[in-house]
Formats: sequence, C-alpha cells, structure tokens
Amino acid sequence: MKDVIILAIESSCDETACAIVKNGNEILASKVATQIDVHTLYGGVVPEIASRIHVENISIIIKETLKQANLTVNDVDAIAFTKGPGLIGSLHVGVLAAKTLAWAYNKPLVGVHHLSGHIYANAFVDKLQFPLLALVVSGGHTELVYMKEDYDFKVIGTTLDDAIGESYDKVGRLLDLPYPGGPKIDKLSKLGQPVYKLPKPKVDSPLDFSFSGLKSAIMQSINRIEKSGEKVDINDMCASFQQTALSALWDRVDYALKNYDVKQFVLAGGVAANSKLREIVQQKMQQDYPNISYIIPPLSCCTDNAAMIGASGYIAYLKGIRSDYSTSAMASIDLEN
Ligand code: KG4
Ligand code: ZN
Repeated sequence: MKDVIILAIESSCDETACAIVKNGNEILASKVATQIDVHTLYGGVVPEIASRIHVENISIIIKETLKQANLTVNDVDAIAFTKGPGLIGSLHVGVLAAKTLAWAYNKPLVGVHHLSGHIYANAFVDKLQFPLLALVVSGGHTELVYMKEDYDFKVIGTTLDDAIGESYDKVGRLLDLPYPGGPKIDKLSKLGQPVYKLPKPKVDSPLDFSFSGLKSAIMQSINRIEKSGEKVDINDMCASFQQTALSALWDRVDYALKNYDVKQFVLAGGVAANSKLREIVQQKMQQDYPNISYIIPPLSCCTDNAAMIGASGYIAYLKGIRSDYSTSAMASIDLEN
C-alpha cells in the first residue's frame, strides 16, 4: 500500500504544534511551541493571550516542521487538525491554518477530536488492539473510553466536576506551586509520604470520577494545620493528594477491566506523564491482568502535541472522514459523534 503522509496541526490550549506523520505510526517531524512560561506568570492559561501567541507562532511552527521532515506541503496526502474541544480562540488559529493549507495546496482536510488524538498517541508504541479501554486523563478531561473497533468511541465513565489535571493544577495553586501544578506535584510527591488523611472521592456510579471534593478537603486540611500553628509539609501533602486521586482513578479502571471485554488497555493525556500513575498501571496490569495487553505512551506523546493528531487523523483519513471549508472550531464537542 502507498504510504500516507499527514501534516497535523494542534492548537487547542497553550501549545502550538505541528507534526508530519507517516502511516499513522511514524513521526517524520514534530514541533511543539509551548506557552507555559507566559501563562505561569498568571497562574494558569489566559485564553486571550494564548490565542495571540498561537497567531504569532503557527506559521513558523509549520514551516519548521516541514523543514525538519525535509518535505513540502505538496508531499503530504492530507491536512489534519484539532477541531475541538478546547479554548475557542486557540482552536480557531489551528483550524484556519489547516483550512488555508488545504485550500492553497488542494489537499483533503481532516478534523480530529483532541481526545482521539491522545488515545491514538499510543499507536506510536504498538498497533492498537480492540476491544480497547482508554483512560484519558488531561487538564480538561477524565474519561474512560471503550472502543470496540478503530474510531468507535464510547465514553463509559467521566468526571462529574473537575478533570484530574485541573485538580492537580488547582491543588498546585493551593500549595503555592507554579503553573502547571501536575509535574511539580509529581516530583515533590517522591520526597514525601502520604501521611495526611484525605477522603476518597465518593461517586454513585462505579465508572465516574469526582475531584472537586478532594481539592476542598485539601484546602480545609491546610487551614486546620495552619490554624494549629503548624506548617504544612508540602511534599507530604503532594504525596497524600496524589495517592488519593490516583487510587480513585485506578478503582474505575479496575471496575471497567473486570466488567468489559477488553483486549488492550491504554493510558492517554497529559496526566499520563505522571510517574506514579505509570508505575501503578504497569504494576497492576502485570499482576492482575496478565492476559490484557497495555500501552503507556512515551512522555513526549502524553502532553499536547500534533503527532497524536496525525496518528488519529490517519485513521480518520482512511475511513473517508473529511471536513469542508465551512468547518469551524468547536469549544465542546462529543467524542462519540
Ligand atoms: O493533555 P494536556 O497537555 O492538555 C489538555 O488537553 O488538557 O494535559 C495537561 C495537564 C495539566 O493539567 C498538567 O498539570 C498535567 O496534564 N500534567 C501532569 C503531569 N504532566 C502534565 N499531571 C500530573 N503529573 C505529571 N507529571
Ligand atoms: Zn490534551
């Protein structure tokens, strides 16, 4: 079969990214321009600033990516882009860039759901096997996705309030850690012990998540400790939060693996970069589910990037999924459609 080369663009939040992916599983080039340094000054992503920086960076990133791959737009088979969900102003920049390239070079245009990108990032490690269960954990999402086959997404569990990455970032703020809190909490947890007792999030459904109560419990705990004249041990608080949050995550995965026919489990999204979560998945899968294969994506493919959009865009392209020139960004969009 002829090789299929996809040029992919991602700009849903605070990363301007472009990648060129061959046959959905080989990265020919990938560039990510992160804006974290700017947003850190404000303690979180400022949407208006994010869109402006995307506008400044997008053309350069596309040019640099093509240069890295030693290709021109003429050499690619299709242009894939993140159509949503995400920050609307940020998304628009990537959507417009993709439409412009598709129009100017007469290439098919393939809109991709951001979360499908996170899931298909695992295709860079191994061929995906179905039925597949994905735990998608990012700054905006916490979803358990069941896929009977390629590009057939069913959300079987979701968060009822905060996303897990969002709660890492909010707890980071409570502990005066710079944005984003996730990677910092990951690091500091290794220096502490989970000595602070925090309530396990309570949810009626065995597959849904809730993290806002945990954040409030930490706030109350900090207030209590400080009122009593003691100092909060940041490392211990990070370790306590992380243990409670990650065990709530694993409980849901465990339930899904026991109750669904699953051939492969994959981890996805920015929080998949968390070293403790990666350790838990590896240990539990090997010990409790030796007959189910599993993939943990490489660190470079966990947080937002465009290679993952190229991997997902490849499958969409083969399935004949196309966007037309009237396509627009969507801040919230269902994975199942
Ligand atoms: O997937 P992503 O790059 O953007 C969204 O689609 O949201 O995820 C970003 C999220 C942030 O909340 C960040 O704090 C979290 O991923 N994150 C981590 C780690 N690295 C990134 N959370 C915990 N541990 C990490 N090592
Ligand atoms: Zn993401």
